[in-house]
Amino acid sequence: MIASSFRTSAAVFAVIILHVGALDTFIAAVYEHAVILPKTTVTPVSQDDALLLMNKNIDILERAIKQAAKQGAQIIVTPEDALYGWTFTRETIFPYLEDVPDPQANWIPCQDSNRFGYTPVQVRLSCLAKNNSIYVLANMGDKKPCNRHNSMCPPNGYYQYNTNVVYDAEGKLVARYHKYHLYSEPQFDVPEKPELVTFNTTFGRFGIFTCFDIFFHDPAVTLVKDFHVDTILFPTAWMNVLPLLTAIEFHSAWAVGMRVNLLAANTHNIHMNMTGSGIYAPQSPKVYHHDMETESGKLLLAEVDSHPRDSPAYPTAVNWSAHATTIRPFPGKKNTFRAFISRDAFNFTELFENAGNLTVCQKDLCCHLSYRMLGKEEDEVYALGAFSGLHGRRRKEYWQVCTMLKCKTTNLTTCGRPVETASTRFEMFSLSGTFGTEYVIPEVLLTKIHLSPGKFEVLQDGRLVNKNGPSEPILTVSLFGRWYAKDSSSIPGGTSNSATTYLLIPILLMIIAWQIL
Ligand SMILES: *[C@@H]1O[C@H](CO)[C@@H](O)[C@H](O)[C@H]1NC(C)=O
Ligand SMILES: *[C@@H]1O[C@H](CO)[C@@H](O)[C@H](O)[C@H]1NC(C)=O
Ligand SMILES: *[C@@H]1O[C@H](CO)[C@@H](O)[C@H](O)[C@H]1NC(C)=O
Ligand SMILES: *[C@@H]1O[C@H](CO)[C@@H](O)[C@H](O)[C@H]1NC(C)=O
Ligand SMILES: *[C@@H]1O[C@H](CO)[C@@H](O)[C@H](O)[C@H]1NC(C)=O
Ligand SMILES: *[C@@H]1O[C@H](CO)[C@@H](O)[C@H](O)[C@H]1NC(C)=O
Ligand SMILES: *[C@@H]1O[C@H](CO)[C@@H](O)[C@H](O)[C@H]1NC(C)=O
Repeated sequence: MIASSFRTSAAVFAVIILHVGALDTFIAAVYEHAVILPKTTVTPVSQDDALLLMNKNIDILERAIKQAAKQGAQIIVTPEDALYGWTFTRETIFPYLEDVPDPQANWIPCQDSNRFGYTPVQVRLSCLAKNNSIYVLANMGDKKPCNRHNSMCPPNGYYQYNTNVVYDAEGKLVARYHKYHLYSEPQFDVPEKPELVTFNTTFGRFGIFTCFDIFFHDPAVTLVKDFHVDTILFPTAWMNVLPLLTAIEFHSAWAVGMRVNLLAANTHNIHMNMTGSGIYAPQSPKVYHHDMETESGKLLLAEVDSHPRDSPAYPTAVNWSAHATTIRPFPGKKNTFRAFISRDAFNFTELFENAGNLTVCQKDLCCHLSYRMLGKEEDEVYALGAFSGLHGRRRKEYWQVCTMLKCKTTNLTTCGRPVETASTRFEMFSLSGTFGTEYVIPEVLLTKIHLSPGKFEVLQDGRLVNKNGPSEPILTVSLFGRWYAKDSSSIPGGTSNSATTYLLIPILLMIIAWQIL
């Protein structure tokens, strides 16, 4: 008894100690960077020229980091490809790469600059973190020598990875993440398996992934569900695609759907439709930025919960199909038509009246909408759409989507095409769907590409409804579902296909050998 009560008080004491210095909130920063791009060449530049360009970009990041630290930020995220841009071959990216060691090396590049050879970029990033006492996430290229006799090893003798590094406020390398789901990046290799990279701080537990990774289960969902991270660091080079895949729209919805903080830093290049960064909390966006007018970068800061799960305002789990599967489909006028969002053929039905109840289905997915417009504009047509199937040209990801959107023109064949302005406001909307997946994110995008913080909510039974009065003019209200288990292949392209083959053969041989013995 005595022993056990002693252990209890020791445990309580330990908990108290642990909480000293722990912070309930912290100030996060993200920087949207207008990358200075290299001249496109077919032959590689020298290592010195590569460093010159990267230093020009780091000069700009340095100003943002100093500014963020001065305003009290504990951590700053900078974008994917921020040091050198995106148009490369395996050969032309090579002079930009450095060998990034495992964080277990306990390395402070700023203090010990020669320990891992020639690493000027890592030394400078580490010094920026150390000198300004702030955690810094940067995206750079990692090269890892491999044995050329191994058929997996690329001809130049190196694996090349799209990599995030994080330095803590002392300049120590605390995390390294190699992007798994590459998107048209012939210059980089796919790591053998998705890496689950986390690190702990006094202001919560962090997880990392990059850009296109957000569409897949691993590592993104596993970091949230199994590793219980509080905040995701998300560098990206994201090209906006209306109506469903604009950066601020999709990323803010991911934070709400997955109930986690998401710090999203995008590159800024208006000619490539790249803009849209933000600090997103599980309840709603704290701050966001979308700018297709100017060419300049932008620093964003906001205070966020260190442990959102402990907050009384933490949203409860949603059963995304509970409402939709228990009601009867609204009787329709059977005026369903087909129209495309990108390459996906949706079934649509028009919002014919000022108010009403509609259902549209595709395969097993039925989408229900109840709505009341404040006034129907004569020249605007809205439609309710459903899609359930493998998405896009690659047809690898299984999507389930319910969307109410403004059509580009009054010609119904244009429903689903990009449109940026609207004038119809909704007094009420309620959207739900019979999703087969538990991974659904709620998107609301307003006219001129704005978010709608505090003006909508998701009910526990899966209805996405408006809140706090009539909406501003709406471009789209959507429930975007990902049914990972129905993806056509869980393995991305590139080297990992052959990697699995070469891994499987020895494993099979081992199993056979084991059974014989
Ligand atoms: C960091 O500070 C040291 C001196 O305190 C200075 O020599 C160095 O140039 C600084 N580095 C950066 C990247 O600011
Ligand atoms: C972070 O702390 C948790 C316990 O609070 C521990 O389980 C986890 O392994 C730690 N993660 C890292 C990367 O140190
Ligand atoms: C940018 O978006 C607009 C409108 O959605 C589209 O017409 C244009 O082709 C896009 N530009 C690029 C480079 O993809
Ligand atoms: C969600 O709700 C539906 C309908 O009430 C029910 O059949 C289903 O079991 C629920 N799913 C979960 C995961 O609770
Ligand atoms: C929509 O359905 C609700 C009941 O579910 C009903 O109260 C309402 O009148 C209907 N609205 C219209 C415009 O039919
Ligand atoms: C709705 O989608 C299904 C495919 O799931 C298709 O067979 C059906 O013809 C579509 N209906 C209309 C009216 O387009
Ligand atoms: C609607 O657009 C399609 C092509 O997108 C065209 O073939 C059709 O004639 C148009 N309909 C009307 C009524 O303008």
